[in-house]
Amino acid sequence: VEGAMDLLDTARDPSLALADLRQELLGRGDWPDWASRATQPVLGEGPVGAPLLFVGEQPGDEEDIQGRPFVGPAGRLFNRAMDAAGLPRDAAYVTNAVKHFKFTPTGKRRLHQSPDAGDITYYRPFLLREIGLVAPKLVVALGATALQALTGKKLPVMKSRGTVITGLDGHQIFATVHPSYLLRIPDEEGQAREFARFVEDLKAAGQQVA
Ligand code: URA
Repeated sequence: VEGAMDLLDTARDPSLALADLRQELLGRGDWPDWASRATQPVLGEGPVGAPLLFVGEQPGDEEDIQGRPFVGPAGRLFNRAMDAAGLPRDAAYVTNAVKHFKFTPTGKRRLHQSPDAGDITYYRPFLLREIGLVAPKLVVALGATALQALTGKKLPVMKSRGTVITGLDGHQIFATVHPSYLLRIPDEEGQAREFARFVEDLKAAGQQVA
């Protein structure tokens, strides 16, 4: 009976089902062993039915503490790029491939660790269910981890960027770089050039759903 009620709720209100997804992840006893070091799972944010759904890699230090995606340095850069592309961030759904912050504790700093294939596989059902509930027109993969999570393949980001690929579950996936890539470029000129290119990618994604 409980299962049937869940189905009814899901049919009525996908945002309830999204909240349930977080509860379900919280209650799972089979997380990757590093995940229990994180403060909390971070799921997506944004309206159900958003035409664009963005997928990053994993929550970072600030996201882990606040429990919200893309609120740290990469998120601020993402917001600036969205503004420059004329796309309101609140109209988009923003989430990550991996739902916990994976890090190496080093003294007082928590050093970001890249998720591996097993981590991507573990969180994939949650990502795909999120996408199913939001039902966007286009999914934007920000970087290699997102692209791997969404397609099941290790595709080179630089070759795939700007193109639309059919992902697992038949979603249309638009590939681009991760905003952290822009933060790692050492010189200002290169940063400005790559920022402009990222903005062009976002505009192109926006045009696909206009
Ligand atoms: N980087 C990501 O991939 N996701 C976040 O939420 C923050 C930083």
